[in-house]
Amino acid sequence: MLPTLLIVDDERATREGLRSALEEEFDVYTAAGTAEAMKILKSEPIELLLTDLRLGADSGMDLLASVLALPEPPVAIMMTAYGSVDTAVEAMRRGAWHFVTKPLNLDEVEMLLKRALRSRSLESENRQLTRQVQQTHKIDRIIGKSAAMNEVSELIQQVAPTRATVLIEGESGTGKEVVAHTLHHLSGRPAAKLVIVHCAALSPQLLESELFGHEKGAFTGAAQRRIGRFEQADGGSIFLDEVGEIDPSTQVKLLRILSERTLERVGSNTPIKIDVRVIAATNKSLRGLVDAGSFREDLFFRLNVVRIHMPPLRARREDIVLLANSFLEEFAKENHRPLKPLSDAALHLLLTYDWPGNVRELRTVIEHGVVMSNETVIDIRHLPQFLLAAPASAEDSTPPAKIALEKPPGFNLHALEADAIRCALAAAGGNRTHAAELLGLSRRTLQRKLKDLHP
Ligand SMILES: Nc1ncnc2c1ncn2[C@@H]1O[C@H](COP(=O)(O)OP(=O)(O)OP(=O)(O)O)[C@@H](O)[C@H]1O
Ligand SMILES: [Mg+2]
Repeated sequence: MLPTLLIVDDERATREGLRSALEEEFDVYTAAGTAEAMKILKSEPIELLLTDLRLGADSGMDLLASVLALPEPPVAIMMTAYGSVDTAVEAMRRGAWHFVTKPLNLDEVEMLLKRALRSRSLESENRQLTRQVQQTHKIDRIIGKSAAMNEVSELIQQVAPTRATVLIEGESGTGKEVVAHTLHHLSGRPAAKLVIVHCAALSPQLLESELFGHEKGAFTGAAQRRIGRFEQADGGSIFLDEVGEIDPSTQVKLLRILSERTLERVGSNTPIKIDVRVIAATNKSLRGLVDAGSFREDLFFRLNVVRIHMPPLRARREDIVLLANSFLEEFAKENHRPLKPLSDAALHLLLTYDWPGNVRELRTVIEHGVVMSNETVIDIRHLPQFLLAAPASAEDSTPPAKIALEKPPGFNLHALEADAIRCALAAAGGNRTHAAELLGLSRRTLQRKLKDLHP
């Protein structure tokens, strides 16, 4: 079945010209004014609307308002006379998806309609996915549906109710702390505390007394007895973040807790029994630190009872859309903004970027998009610009001709065009079909332009 398209223009010649150019690809309806258009929209399932901004006595802007109030509005593209781009931009601000200027380039119109259609299905898929996030692909706060994350989830569910010590390894921003929270929540001791210690943030002496507490007068400045973090976590869990940074003398004490389940406060010889579940994390390889001689091997074995490896985001791209949608919802709520989908171009950019900062970086990028977009979608221009400048991922694309992003080339139109083409190729990971889509061109036109650039 062909997608349905309604063309609204007060000039009969334009309507019929467009109809004959597009009827092979679309099921075309036409109307000369607002009333006729609304009648069709209410009786037929129209997916795409292409309307002139000036409709004789009627206004395309009014039509747009009525269309957007429909329960399932079509994607609207406005046609505008050359020179009235301001009005077209205003139409986009009010919810039109895009605009084309007259005289029309039929190639461009067709390409835009196809992109609009894809964006519509992607957006509705996005909305559905956002709804699903709450119900599926989520244990506690961990979102993910990739095979790698399913494995992580299974492991968590398996070990959470036990007392086994867990070592979480993974690059920065992959979700190690989220996993620690989940392990604790699913531990079956929900009322108990999760105590978090960032081991790299404290000097060796401070860390020791932070972890194990001290007696009054144990060292200069110890004016009061202090209960350490292990004692505070008694009956619950302790999360030792960046455990690889712990100095050798504290490592010895930690080993004792793990093997004997007792500790002594600094300045005391009285052993105190504690019942704490230990979860440790590191973004370095703890095995590597053992080999380098900075981490005790016996402590490594005690910590490494169950090891959870958090895969980097670039190795589980299937999770990107799901995570992005969840963050869209979170930041829309937080900023009291309507929930908007990502445009297909923006989504494509997110899917091809390499994410050195992993999920944390994705979260910040989505927050930026939510805050910057005043339109009905979040598009590439609302995302941080470093995403475009970054070399695209090498993993899932044909290698592009080496892309060097130079400084903006001033006002020369050819140079600007060449720059836009380079950026789009970079964003599309060198894939010319995707780059053409990003540029709003047909693949053929892009090929021609590339030939002109590199004859
Ligand atoms: N699977 C996930 N589902 C939902 N949110 C996630 C997920 N993974 C990470 N996040 C979010 O990403 C951000 C970074 O996660 P987290 O702090 O757990 O990373 P980390 O591995 O501990 O990083 P670092 O090594 O820098 O401390 C947090 O805001 C967290 O909520
Ligand atoms: Mg962390």
